[in-house]
Amino acid sequence: MQQAKDVLIPLGTKNIDMVFKVSGRDGRLYQAYLGAKLVNIEEIGKLRDPGHIAYATYGTDNLFEPAIRMTHNDGNPSLELKYISHQVEKVDGDVSITHIRLKDPVYPVEVTLNFRTFADEDVIEQWVEIIHHESKPLTIFNYASSMLNFDANKYWLTQFHGDWAEEMRMQESELTSGIKIIDSKLGSRAHMYETPVFFLSLNGKSGENSGNVVAGTLGWSGNFQFLFEIDEKNSLRILSGINPFASEYSLQPGKSFITPSMIFTFSSLGKGLASRNLHHWALKYGIMDASKPRLTLLNNWETTGFNFDEKKLTDLIDDTKKMGLDLFLLDDGWFANKYPRNNDHAGLGDWQENTAKLPQGIGPLVKEAENVGVKFGIWIEPEMVNPKSELYEKHPDWILKLPNRPENYSRNQLVLDLTNPQVQAFVFDIVDGLLTKYPGIAFFKWDCNRMMTSAYSVYLKDNQSHLYIEYVRSLYSILEKLRQKYPHVPMMLCSGGGGRVDYGALRYFTEFWASDNTDPVERIYIQWGYSYFFPSIAVCNHITSWGKQSLKFRTDVAMMGKMGYDIQVKNFTENELKFSQNAIANYKRLSDIIWHGDLYRLISPYEENRAVLMYVNEAKSKAVLFAYTMNTRFGETFNRVLLQGLDPVKTYRIQEINLPPDGRNFNMENGRSYSGDYLMKTGLSVGFASPLTSTVLEISE
Ligand code: GLA
Repeated sequence: MQQAKDVLIPLGTKNIDMVFKVSGRDGRLYQAYLGAKLVNIEEIGKLRDPGHIAYATYGTDNLFEPAIRMTHNDGNPSLELKYISHQVEKVDGDVSITHIRLKDPVYPVEVTLNFRTFADEDVIEQWVEIIHHESKPLTIFNYASSMLNFDANKYWLTQFHGDWAEEMRMQESELTSGIKIIDSKLGSRAHMYETPVFFLSLNGKSGENSGNVVAGTLGWSGNFQFLFEIDEKNSLRILSGINPFASEYSLQPGKSFITPSMIFTFSSLGKGLASRNLHHWALKYGIMDASKPRLTLLNNWETTGFNFDEKKLTDLIDDTKKMGLDLFLLDDGWFANKYPRNNDHAGLGDWQENTAKLPQGIGPLVKEAENVGVKFGIWIEPEMVNPKSELYEKHPDWILKLPNRPENYSRNQLVLDLTNPQVQAFVFDIVDGLLTKYPGIAFFKWDCNRMMTSAYSVYLKDNQSHLYIEYVRSLYSILEKLRQKYPHVPMMLCSGGGGRVDYGALRYFTEFWASDNTDPVERIYIQWGYSYFFPSIAVCNHITSWGKQSLKFRTDVAMMGKMGYDIQVKNFTENELKFSQNAIANYKRLSDIIWHGDLYRLISPYEENRAVLMYVNEAKSKAVLFAYTMNTRFGETFNRVLLQGLDPVKTYRIQEINLPPDGRNFNMENGRSYSGDYLMKTGLSVGFASPLTSTVLEISE
């Protein structure tokens, strides 16, 4: 019999190629290439070895971790996938979608691999759709969003881990043979301990500007898993997707199971370019309204906690105006009456204004904001309930908790069962109700302060293993509905600090709260960590009283992202107030470059006792550089820093900003002009050798 011909399915972006091959020999789909752009893709077709199976199944001849595993109606535990067809949709000049249909030759099961390629951003988004037409539901145990294969001598994994107030700690290690898993099992949030992002460097470790590196992140706000497996031939398989742990899924005939998106890029020039690729993608496609400006704000959480009244808040609204900020954000504590929200033990779930603190509700606050010319925002935590609440009393079956076992609390609260449509309507109504009553509300901080433990859904009955998946899907469907009605109200994503930061949620949110830890030295590391995968427009940084550093140091650290305040402005000295007003004015002048410019990380705090980074606008006519000295050893000197991303033939003037009001110019480069060429080859002296000092330089053509 004559063997069918191989079929090549190339997908690519400006600088990346990914090539699949259908083998004429066995009809299976293989990943033949993934990496830097090839001059001639056809050469891949000449390889005799088809490559690595593109989406490994379980039950026939695969001996390694499968991307997909299922049991059929008749109890047969195997799946085989053969190529059927593929189709390319050109969405516009930048975006194309390739669908590759695979089918089991014996059972009526179809799996489509989908790839959305972003040519200019060099990003690929992959997801998978599973559908079957057996007579009864079948069970799927594994359902990866993507499976990527690599052949290199060595593999270096960079991962980010942490805990509350210590988010995004970077760790790099060499992978060895066998399996390494990074995952979370927190249910209501993607992370707290392990973050759903990674770098994978091929052969040697990658640097900021050198090395072949893949950067990946999963767009899913719940349990995730990245599984790295090195086989006996030293080939690497990376499986990414929803964590299959305790989540076997019974799929109805004719119903699609659609996985979340795995978002990845490949850079042959190190992590810096990989980050910029992801940032470009996120600014255009990944984050809600990312091309629009953001609101600077004053929050009351750190200064009042739960203890406030109308007068205190009105004063803070006036301070918002005095500082030159855009919005006042009222945090936790404004609601609940039978069990007033005066601490974190009571009131969650009862979203009526607390009449003891706010006898006239929040109406007068919204009005006051309007009168003084600032906006008004409000905190909610709509997915949660305190046992001490009317909601708990009225709807015990709306709460995730195990039968026959004691309730298990975290921050004295429980999680609502979002899989229940009645609960979905309740959560929708919290936001909708507030916006209907007070159309002046211009911002929400949406919090989620606990993970799931001892969780059980009355609504899901016999399908308890669907809980982790359906919870997140339900959350998205609420957010989808809210966004249909309120497409542009900015919302901050928060999860007891940073803990739900992912591109699944960021489709509905304009920004996220990076950590409850606002000590600026800690923050340098935390913000540095996020900067690898998320653009600074989304990273909320507030100036607070955590840490004993100077106000300038705290301000300069917050300014490298989306700046805000959570501090007692009335305690400022005259000089501190002036300094802050000036810094806010500087920020407003430069924020477009910080939010939408290209990020260059110049000196890593993981390598020196300082951190230096800069943002450059698209025209390369304007840049902002931030330099922070954390700690210094006796006699330590800091070398000049080579700038990046400038135009070599342009001449730039260096101006130090955020200077204390006594008018001293600290930086010796202040006022000088240099060519971009000089700045990138000879560099600048930035910052000082004294601990806890900082410099911000405005660099203009
Ligand atoms: C979480 C958030 C904080 C604050 C409190 C309020 O911890 O991260 O910023 O909103 O909840 O209870």
